[in-house]
Amino acid sequence: MKRKNNKQLKPRITTKLPGPKAREILRKDGKYVSSSYTRFYPFVMKKGEGVWLTDVDGNYFLDFTSGIGVTATGHSHPEVVTAISEQAARFLHMSGTDFYYELQARLAAKLAEIVPGAQNKKTFFCNSGTEAVECAMKLSRHHTRRTRFLAFTGSFHGRTYGSLTLTASKSIQKKYFGPLLPGVTHVAYAYCYRCPFRLEYPSCNLMCVQYIDDVVFKKIVPPEEVAGIFVEPIQGEGGYVVPPKGFLPALRKLCDKYGILLVDDEIQAGMGRTGKMFAIEHFSAKADIYCLAKGIASGLPLGACLSRAGIMDWQPGAHASTFGGNPVACAAALKTVELLEKGLVENAARMGKIAMERLRELEKRFDFIGDVRGYGLMIGIELVADKQSKEPVKDKRDAVVYEAFKQGFLLLGAGESVVRLIPPLVINEHELHTGLDLFENVLNKVFKTK
Ligand SMILES: Cc1ncc(COP(=O)(O)O)c(C=O)c1O
Repeated sequence: MKRKNNKQLKPRITTKLPGPKAREILRKDGKYVSSSYTRFYPFVMKKGEGVWLTDVDGNYFLDFTSGIGVTATGHSHPEVVTAISEQAARFLHMSGTDFYYELQARLAAKLAEIVPGAQNKKTFFCNSGTEAVECAMKLSRHHTRRTRFLAFTGSFHGRTYGSLTLTASKSIQKKYFGPLLPGVTHVAYAYCYRCPFRLEYPSCNLMCVQYIDDVVFKKIVPPEEVAGIFVEPIQGEGGYVVPPKGFLPALRKLCDKYGILLVDDEIQAGMGRTGKMFAIEHFSAKADIYCLAKGIASGLPLGACLSRAGIMDWQPGAHASTFGGNPVACAAALKTVELLEKGLVENAARMGKIAMERLRELEKRFDFIGDVRGYGLMIGIELVADKQSKEPVKDKRDAVVYEAFKQGFLLLGAGESVVRLIPPLVINEHELHTGLDLFENVLNKVFKTK
């Protein structure tokens, strides 16, 4: 089925789910693949184009997950596929650790240009988000010669030991894995819908940031020992939490006061997802170190940690990676950035506005929608028992995600009671409305409004 300008496209489920071929694969997967993954419904992919996916049994799905926020340019964008195949035919690997190739230098120069801040930035290339965060942790210690870190409750920074220590979105992620890295302290994120201080913005005067200075730094953690504060400009796994405008600038000020590095984890929110190239641009603040991954290479594994040259000046041998900055992934990333700049970031902003308008209407109409928040195509809908109690309804949220799957519409949850909408940034208006119609249907069914 061709996607271009096709207004007839909609999900089409023609077998029981999972279908017979899917069941066979699930059986093998169950036997041989690690049981630690969090698969929520049995979608078994065969093929993708833009925002449309076909499963192994020929069922046709609309994707509002982007493979967990990765396929920014849509599934198998033809220009990305060409860039990948051309590079694959040239060479697949040589390792930037011991050799050079132009693509790495070209991509680093491009990232230095588009990431906020002065242009004299350098990039360390790796393969994933968690590695970008590990790099940022090592770099901040190395540069400051300090040992401690601050991170936020609700944050997700990855699952290797350093990044896992920073992560604080679900305790199951840490269960039986201790001891973790010493020296990490968690403080409250600006989750205004459920403010831990029971205050309201702006009359709260950003108590969450003040508390760090007034209590944490005075009584618990000497600020002179803090290397970096790690923050997601919009929390992802923690529940698509959008901080108020003043939060990041206040953190910036706090960091400047004590010579602490501000580390911006743009792994989920970056690469055009929010309608700006980087989410931090919505908040008029700049970080010292940036972590990128997910959407950067349209699906090929690539991570990047960037900082200005005065910080990323560590000695040869300090940090490296055999596969990091793989040439095929770099080729995909250069094409991805080009497509983002040529219109996809703008499309994310435009489609996001349309989606928000419709979702705000639903929010007014339904007592079980507690909060709708986001920028561009990074949107979270927090479901609750009712607006008054704000009680989370995890079972209902899970039912929404599962029911959507049954109707050929792929969604993911986030946080305790949030549904996230993160379609590929190539989505057009017809596809967006198709998804929002399905979402409304599913809500009606699960919350029995009709
Ligand atoms: C904000 C953020 N940081 C880090 C990570 C870890 O990335 P990866 O799974 O590529 O290691 C994620 C993944 O969801 C993320 O959302």
